[in-house]
Amino acid sequence: MTDVIRTRAALQTWRDGLAPDIRVAFVPTMGFLHAGHRSLLDEGRRRGDRLVLSIFVNPTQFGPNEDLDRYPRDESGDLRQAEGCGVDVAFCPTDPEQMYPSRSTWVNVDGLDTGLCGRTRPGHFRGVCTVVCKLLALVRPHVSLFGEKDYQQLAIVRRMHADLFLPGEIVGMPIVREPDGLAMSSRNAHLSPGARADAVAIHRFLTRVHQRFAAGERSRERLLAGADTELAPGVIDYVELVDAESLQPVATVERAALCATAVFFAGVRLIDNVVLAP
Ligand code: PAJ
Repeated sequence: MTDVIRTRAALQTWRDGLAPDIRVAFVPTMGFLHAGHRSLLDEGRRRGDRLVLSIFVNPTQFGPNEDLDRYPRDESGDLRQAEGCGVDVAFCPTDPEQMYPSRSTWVNVDGLDTGLCGRTRPGHFRGVCTVVCKLLALVRPHVSLFGEKDYQQLAIVRRMHADLFLPGEIVGMPIVREPDGLAMSSRNAHLSPGARADAVAIHRFLTRVHQRFAAGERSRERLLAGADTELAPGVIDYVELVDAESLQPVATVERAALCATAVFFAGVRLIDNVVLAP
C-alpha cells in the first residue's frame, strides 16, 4: 500500500523511523508518470527495501515563459501506477512552500550548465539542483535513480552529488521509448496527433547519426549533416555533439560523445539524445 505524505515533517518522521540496515531507493519526478518513470521505479524496487517516489512540479526550474501552468498533472493516475510499482511512500507536497520555506538558498553547478538545454533555459538547472538537493536531504536515500533521457540533468546531478557529499549512490537508467522510437515524456501529452506523428523525426535523425558513427564517421560536421531537413517540420532549439563527460562541443569524436537535441513540434519542446561510444 502506497503511503501518501504531503509535508516534509511527516516525511522526516517516516525516515527517522527506519532501522539503519533498511535500504531506501528514491525516484524524484514531476508526475504524469509513464513507462520511463516506471522503469526507474522498477529498478528502485529491485535495489531498495523501501521505495520512495516524489511528485513535485518544481516551480524554480521553469522560466517565466515556460509551461509551468500547463505542465500535465494527474495525481490519482500517478498514485495508481505507484501502487503497481510497489512504491512505499509517495511524497507529494501540494504546497510549494513545503519545498521552499524561503527562496534564499540555491545550488549552482558551474560549467556543465552552459551548453545544450542550459543555453536556452537559463536558471533551469539551478532550480533542478536546488530541489534535488533538498529532496536528497529529506529522503536520505541509499540509491537515487535518474533517466538518461535528461542526460545533461543526470551529469549535473552527479557532479552536485559528488561535490556536496550528498547521501547514497546516483544511478542512470536507459531511455524508454514508444514503439515508434519517440522518447517517452510527460510533455508528449501536449502533442496534437499531427505533431505526434512528426515528432518521430527526432529518433529517426538520432538513429541516422548513430549509423554514420557505427560506419566509422567521426567528424561533427558530417555526423550532424542534414539535421535541418531531417528534423523538419520541427523547429530546432539545438543539435549538438559534445563530450559525454564534460559536455563541451567536440569537432571530432575521439572518446565517448553525446549527440543531443531539443526540437519544438507545434510549440512542444522535446529532447532526446544518443551516446556515441568508440
Ligand atoms: P521528470 O521529467 O518527471 O522525470 C523524472 C525522471 O524520469 C528523470 O530522472 C527523467 O530523466 C526520467 N525519465 C523521463 N522520461 C524518461 C524516459 N523516456 N526514459 C527513462 N527515464 C525517463 O526530471 C525531472 O522530472 C525533474 O527535473 C526532477 C529531477 C524531478 C527535478 O524536479
